Amino acid sequence: MTLKDKIDLDKLPNHIAIIMDGNGRWAKEKGKNRIFGHSNGVQSVREVSEACAELGVKCLTLYAFSTENWNRPKLEVTALMELLVQTIRKETKTLMKNDIRLKAIGNLSSLPPRCYNELMESIEITKDNKRLDLVLALSYSGRDELLQACKKIATEVQNGQLKTEEITEDLIQKNLYTHDIPDPELLIRTSGEHRVSNFLLWQIAYAEFYFTEKYWPEFRKEDLYESIINFQNRERRFGKTSEQLSVGPSK
Ligand code: FPP
Repeated sequence: MTLKDKIDLDKLPNHIAIIMDGNGRWAKEKGKNRIFGHSNGVQSVREVSEACAELGVKCLTLYAFSTENWNRPKLEVTALMELLVQTIRKETKTLMKNDIRLKAIGNLSSLPPRCYNELMESIEITKDNKRLDLVLALSYSGRDELLQACKKIATEVQNGQLKTEEITEDLIQKNLYTHDIPDPELLIRTSGEHRVSNFLLWQIAYAEFYFTEKYWPEFRKEDLYESIINFQNRERRFGKTSEQLSVGPSK
């Protein structure tokens, strides 16, 4: 029995989110520069997207560039943006072939115009695809997302379009970048770090966390299968007790 066969296809996480970490350390161990690590990380992006599409996972979100990443050396930021442009340009055909729809979350207007335009073009081309939503978090941070939502809601209250009593969790959700994306059920972080790093702070309220020592450029389909099997062996209680879950809905 292969690892893939051990996955229960009826209990797949609908949405997997990944903090792709360790590109720099992977490259350093090989005596190469950090950009070499990022370039090799693209193969892991391909593998994981393909594996999710094959299994039937409906949504995959990848933390590709955080708001804080703008503070990295200029050369690295430029190289990462160029890598994004080249990857999106090259992979749009594969996205079409595999029925994958590209989406993006974050402060997208802060991206360099070339990157923004390439991204928007691919989003437009793939917009009717149905098998998997591949969401890139770019110039993204969870706190920034919540701040933008607060400002939008406050403006509506100020303009008299909304009453304070009408602010609900659902309304906050509707004002996030992820308004049309379900919350992730499984959050993976590679490279042995156990942090959330400002990723999807609102949306991970009930996500299961999975950490692996593997650096992102080493992450392959088998590693994704392992994380899903681990997820399927957990009991998700959403604040209830085990007994309540085995009896069924509480009265
Ligand atoms: C974290 O590793 C990785 C990033 C900040 C960038 C991730 C980008 C890619 C995998 C390439 C392009 C992606 C797409 C979606 C086409 P790190 O640099 O923080 O590694 P370190 O912690 O070892 O220094």
